[in-house]
Amino acid sequence: MPKQAYVNGRYLPHGEAAVHIEDRGYQFADGVYEVVPVASGALVDEDLHLDRLERSLGELHIDMPMSRTALKLVSDELMRRNRLSNGFLYMQVTRGVAPRDHKFPKAAKPALVMTTRQTKPHSPQMLAEGVTVITLPDIRWKRCDIKSVSLLPNVLAKQQAVDAGAYEAWMVDEEGKVTEGTSTNAWIVTKDDKLVTRHANNAILNGITRISLLRLAAEEGVEFQERPFSVEEALEAREAFITSSTNFVMPVTQIDGKPVGNGHPGLLTARLRAVYEGYATGPEGNA
Ligand code: PDD
Repeated sequence: MPKQAYVNGRYLPHGEAAVHIEDRGYQFADGVYEVVPVASGALVDEDLHLDRLERSLGELHIDMPMSRTALKLVSDELMRRNRLSNGFLYMQVTRGVAPRDHKFPKAAKPALVMTTRQTKPHSPQMLAEGVTVITLPDIRWKRCDIKSVSLLPNVLAKQQAVDAGAYEAWMVDEEGKVTEGTSTNAWIVTKDDKLVTRHANNAILNGITRISLLRLAAEEGVEFQERPFSVEEALEAREAFITSSTNFVMPVTQIDGKPVGNGHPGLLTARLRAVYEGYATGPEGNA
């Protein structure tokens, strides 16, 4: 059976699945999304992702397209149809279809699309070497806490990273402090072994991996601080890494061409990755 997608009530072959040309997601980026990791055949932190979906929609005054229970049923059914064991589930909700007009339409119904992607585990080489990042000015809007499908600055920054031979771009605010990556949260481990990641407010997306990792770090007795850090501080740090649903915990070993610490993935990073992997693939993360 070819891979399927869910589009507004129907399961369709992925290649034939389509939305209306007047979907406001297409016209205005008037919608939000979630990327939920799938490990060992189960969704990781599904409830936290649905909480964030509900919050993002609420901030935009878009109704949930269906109940949480129904969303879970559709996700499970799509994963079953696609025999998804490892990868992610993508969910997108837009304000729906209406003649193009900036103001909210009166009668539009939220549109829901779900797709899945099977992925390979992260390559051992990537984990052993770590990845490289460049830094760029953060040119995004002031509501980065909403997981909006409006991702143009992120797309442009990611392409600049790729063009520079890097894996990710860290965006930097007007005070010289790192906000986050184009699709990841940014972390450092200081010389005195403090784990640091920016506090969650309107300047960043509060990553679900970030939330779970902070909880796991606390359980492990790892001290952390939620505060902004500068590019200079990151360059003086012992370790750096990024987190996301697609990267889990990924070591960063170079920033703007300069090595972080000794230029190799750090010990705490490796420990936190192992702890997170255990959580994501175990019963706790899939509860
Ligand atoms: N991105 N910051 C931004 C801007 C993001 O887009 C993401 C996720 C994160 C990490 O969030 P989480 O831990 O919940 O995945 C941080 C997804 C993976 C994406 O756009 O593909």
